[in-house]
Amino acid sequence: MATQNKKLLTWVDDMAALCEPDNIVWCDGSDAEWETMWDIMVKSGTARKLNEDKRPNSYHVNSIPADVARVEDRTYICSEKEEDAGPTNNWADPTEMRKTLNTMFSGCMKGRTMYVIPFSMGPIGSDIAQIGVEISDSPYVVTNMHIMARVGNAVLDVLGADGDFVPCLHSVGVPLAAGDKDAPWPCNPDNRYIVHYPETREIWSFGSGYGGNALLGKKCFALRIASTMARDEGWMAEHMLILKLTNPEGVVKYVAGAFPSACGKTNLAMLTPTIPGWEVETVGDDIAWMKFGADGQLYAINPEAGFFGVAPGTGMATNANAMLSMEANAIFTNVAETDDGDVWWESMTKEAPAHLIDWKGNDWTPASEKPSSHPNARFTARAGQCPVIADEWEDPKGVPISAILFGGRRASVVPLATEALDWNHGTFLGTIIASEMTAAAFGAIGKLRRDPMAMLPFCGYNMADYWGHWLDMGKTEGAKMPKVYYVNWFRKNEAGKFMWPGFGENSRVLKWVFERCTGTADAIETAIGNMPTLDGIDFNGLDMSDEDIANLMRVDTEGWLSELQGIEEYYDTFGDHLPAELRAQVQALRERLESTQQAVA
Ligand code: GTP
Ligand code: SPV
Ligand code: MN
Repeated sequence: MATQNKKLLTWVDDMAALCEPDNIVWCDGSDAEWETMWDIMVKSGTARKLNEDKRPNSYHVNSIPADVARVEDRTYICSEKEEDAGPTNNWADPTEMRKTLNTMFSGCMKGRTMYVIPFSMGPIGSDIAQIGVEISDSPYVVTNMHIMARVGNAVLDVLGADGDFVPCLHSVGVPLAAGDKDAPWPCNPDNRYIVHYPETREIWSFGSGYGGNALLGKKCFALRIASTMARDEGWMAEHMLILKLTNPEGVVKYVAGAFPSACGKTNLAMLTPTIPGWEVETVGDDIAWMKFGADGQLYAINPEAGFFGVAPGTGMATNANAMLSMEANAIFTNVAETDDGDVWWESMTKEAPAHLIDWKGNDWTPASEKPSSHPNARFTARAGQCPVIADEWEDPKGVPISAILFGGRRASVVPLATEALDWNHGTFLGTIIASEMTAAAFGAIGKLRRDPMAMLPFCGYNMADYWGHWLDMGKTEGAKMPKVYYVNWFRKNEAGKFMWPGFGENSRVLKWVFERCTGTADAIETAIGNMPTLDGIDFNGLDMSDEDIANLMRVDTEGWLSELQGIEEYYDTFGDHLPAELRAQVQALRERLESTQQAVA
């Protein structure tokens, strides 16, 4: 192994003693390693290589139906004090949890290989980047980590003899006895634990092989653990895309956006604008780490190196740049396979192929009742392969953020676009995001739930303290905070149809945001914030009824007043932790709404 790092060597020894793997392999992130992992997975029946002519160097893997998404009810924040995890997280006593996990992990890698994967979240050596090491018994995890993070010896060089890292232990939780045949997708769905110790900055994950449960650099480290680091050190770790927006005159602004899981971050990050002369390029599609620069602006990096994107709904018509990012060197999980050895999923093309093998391995035709792919099927693709990746996406100092967008799936009440009055009001808007649940996590799909800052499943500490941290960031000496917007692409009309065409047409809203940042667009001050003037958003050429347009831009005073009740009840669940400023925001909004009501009456 290429390291003298004492903490790392000791940890690997200790974990090997606990898990009892047959072998230990130190991963170097090389092409040869990628090949070796896939050889193993093809032989074991885990993976199939796709047709080299159709999709070079790419593989298809199916999980089992019990292991297809993040498991929020099995995700724990084990802080010393329960109140530091807060009412939105599952808390467990760290001492008890350590006992439980020691039992679970004891001998759990028998018959398997333990892979040690050193990785950097963020460009190697960036001030904003962080190092982690994942130990996993899953070759599928190794290959996904190759794409999603920077893996290899360069990371160990930065780590040096006494550098620090976040230890991330993962096991599928299925030891093998001599002669046992392995399952194609080994996992232990009845005993899943996705555990975080925020004070000691450790992650222990058992029993699942899927996505954010198993690729520990992503949600576990880059959000849950990093959010606690960010609180302690005065920066921000957010569930946000980062995009670069260039106007027809060549002026550039960077925009970040927080939307809950499967609510449009990847699509927005790489959209093809429908308005002439405007350009969108991608910096990141899921996570942003932001630190103040010397000029007082927030600078953001994308800590990831790839996209782990929702496949269904993604096609050349909606997200061509995502499709082009996964033309080669990609991994597909829980999608269907075509007769010529390529992949397909719902809405990839307008017409479905006449025959497929679905994600469960059964024959599928367009007459089949069930979708061919799981709704949370995912592609893993290298960010560098995105045709519109911004040149500066790996700039170690990050990009200056001018605006932050918040959004969610809201069939009613929330209009197309609203600008916050200031940072505190913007923070308030972030706290009140509610969104219909999606297939990205186990749960009741379509149910409206509160998902503040799109961080409900990802905040590593008390949510109300996290809101306090947002407010504190704005109070920092010399801070030049981004403008904040609340947008909604998902409002429905009475027929139950989305009123807004979305996707590339979202560039019309981005244009308004851009022009507000440069001071060239007007806005009307309303009770809920600044809204576009009637000609502020260019609706030209859209096939939309005047009624739908009016509804998208309307302040639903009654709707907001009843919303406020729910917000106050929600706030009450945080007790003393709720920042007083947010109560003041509720009060001020109520007063503004009531005076609008009176003015109309
Ligand atoms: P995570 O990776 O889970 O964090 O999701 P995400 O926020 O990146 O969502 P993504 O962009 O993958 O979109 C999820 C689903 O929403 C896909 O099926 C998209 O087709 C759909 N979607 C994205 N943008 C829009 C939009 O503007 N309008 C509508 N109607 N649907 C959209
Ligand atoms: C999400 O659910 O927000 C994702 C997918 O980005 S996962 O990596 O599984 O968390
Ligand atoms: Mn996400």
